[in-house]
Amino acid sequence: MDKKRYTVTAALPYANGPLHLGHVAGVYLPADIFVRFLRHKGHDVAFICGSDEHGAAITLRAKKEGVTPQEIVDKYYTILADSFKKFDVSFDIFHRTSEPIHRETAQDFFKTLHNKGVFTQKTNQQYFDEKYEQFLADRYITGECPKCGFAEAYGDQCEKCGSALSPNDLIRPISKLSGDAPVLRETTHWFLPMERHEDWLKDWIQNGKLEEKQIHDPKKWRKQVVGQCMSWIDGGLQPRAMTRDLDWGIPVPLENAEGKVLYVWLDAPIGYISATKAWAVEQQKNWKNYWTGDTELVHFIGKDNIVFHALIFPILLKEHGDFILPKNVPASEFLNLEGDKFSTSRNWAVWLHEYLERHPNKTDELKYTLTAIAPESRDSEFTWNGFQSRVNNELADVLGNFVNRALVLTNKYFDGAVPELGTVEPEDQRVIKAIGEVSPLVEEKLYNYKIREAQGEVMSLARIGNRYLAETEPWKLIKTDKERVKTILNIALQITANLSILLDPFLPSTARKMRTFLDLEAFNWSQCGKKDILPAGHHTNKPSILFEKIDDAFVEKEQDLLRASQQVEESNHETQKETVAFDDFLKLDIRVGEILSAKKVKKADKLLELNVDTGLDQRTIVSGIAQHFAPEDIIGKKVSVLMNLPPRKIRGVVSNGMLLMGEDKDGKLTFMSPECDLENGATIR
Ligand code: MF3
Ligand code: ZN
Repeated sequence: MDKKRYTVTAALPYANGPLHLGHVAGVYLPADIFVRFLRHKGHDVAFICGSDEHGAAITLRAKKEGVTPQEIVDKYYTILADSFKKFDVSFDIFHRTSEPIHRETAQDFFKTLHNKGVFTQKTNQQYFDEKYEQFLADRYITGECPKCGFAEAYGDQCEKCGSALSPNDLIRPISKLSGDAPVLRETTHWFLPMERHEDWLKDWIQNGKLEEKQIHDPKKWRKQVVGQCMSWIDGGLQPRAMTRDLDWGIPVPLENAEGKVLYVWLDAPIGYISATKAWAVEQQKNWKNYWTGDTELVHFIGKDNIVFHALIFPILLKEHGDFILPKNVPASEFLNLEGDKFSTSRNWAVWLHEYLERHPNKTDELKYTLTAIAPESRDSEFTWNGFQSRVNNELADVLGNFVNRALVLTNKYFDGAVPELGTVEPEDQRVIKAIGEVSPLVEEKLYNYKIREAQGEVMSLARIGNRYLAETEPWKLIKTDKERVKTILNIALQITANLSILLDPFLPSTARKMRTFLDLEAFNWSQCGKKDILPAGHHTNKPSILFEKIDDAFVEKEQDLLRASQQVEESNHETQKETVAFDDFLKLDIRVGEILSAKKVKKADKLLELNVDTGLDQRTIVSGIAQHFAPEDIIGKKVSVLMNLPPRKIRGVVSNGMLLMGEDKDGKLTFMSPECDLENGATIR
């Protein structure tokens, strides 16, 4: 196998909040497993990440917390970096887009493109908040989605239907800053005319071809990634603004561009390059090697980032001319949580840093579960019950049980020394064959970004080992056939050794423990598949328990915690009124009535004059509902009537009572119709 060079990136998380399990399962964990595997195979890898510190995500968060954007990014950079470290994600660097080297790199990149005439400059009308004196790009503006009607779509995207939007598409736009309707104002920006790139993008994404050269195998790209890209392209690519009117970000490095910064989605992916530079300086390497030539560039991302990594950034890289294009963009689908979407605003999430605080010794349990349910090809779901059964039934009962038996029996019968492999029976032969078959499968899956299936293959070897011991029962055989037990335990230990290597990318701390049990310090990935990793006579240690079982109390505690911290979505309803005495309430006489006739009140466009049968009488009631109901539509309606208000003259008509109506937060009225055959005059209390 050729040694290659790889640059593997994991989406730079916004430094505006912590990570939840969805981010981990979709992006950081699969990227880490892939990279650990590549390193074992001897490839030269740069594993790049960092925090994304510009854009509206940051400034809006700062406004919400009442602090400066700088304070926000400093706070969350620390939280992010710390939880990646504790979770043992093996980035070569976790950089920041606020570093000077990034600013220079991004500005140079922009200037190069500008000088090559890659951008077009356009002046148009954009929404502006007059109170805050600021243009409203991206997340600064919300409104109704023109595609699906969702009421709170952002200026750049509708989170409900996934459509990409521009602020001018929104129906009834509202500024996130003042809450007011914005006005339109003229402004000038640099645009990337994406429509000029449709042809080559199509060929590159669908066929893996660039200028007639085959540069990637399109079969290795996930279907959803190709599908999403093609639907963008087929829908017709549009020019996209690459600059913003904001005071937080990287200044546009041109004359006459005061107050303009680079669009965060231009600046952030360039962060992969600047982070590589910063790392190369530390390591005394040449960063350019990681962005040119035969290097394989791979971007691990979530599906909401596809357009930026598979269309926009590749256009920029190609136009710049000095860089390779991504070999693959393995984007994940979404992970749900206990029957619902992860939601930061509702705090419906398991936060990584909090999990690690509560369970510092259960990182591999979490890694295993998240990989087992990784949303690679479709959305999937994390539940605490599922976590419990993965840990108990798979890690503890299969892997842990097998490893423990193999080592405990070796220690008991042979003082810890690996026994000789004697006569190989057919049942042994089958297991030895399986050892040889697993690692090529694992490798093939990993090279194809099928991380979940790869872990499944490794576990299948543990299952085979566990079954082998259960069926051969060496603890019984030892009384009658010690020679046979030697062979069985030799094979069981070879399986354990294989597992301790194969599991290393997935469960690094468990694999390390297993190698300590086996006294297998020097190891090499190329030993995988061999049946003689441990020579006879090699000394092993007494094992300890690899995985403790998760009890029901653990699950309940986690579930309670999740529910308790859930926040109810902010409501716009009026707050509750002062309490009233029960006797005061009883003074109200409310009854079932029926509208017999209705007509408009002259010169009053809000009022209807109604004749209502109250069971006691037929009386006139004037009601302010004319803008909500046509008179002819409400004849015969049952209504709740407040009977004992003093008579009041309204626009010349005397009203004897009031209809009770429901009113929602937008002021829309609904009849509170007594839903029944109650006769007119029946009381309500
Ligand atoms: N911060 C973005 C997000 O969380 C991802 C940025 S990835 C990069 O969705 F390519 F821009 F770096
Ligand atoms: Zn929508």
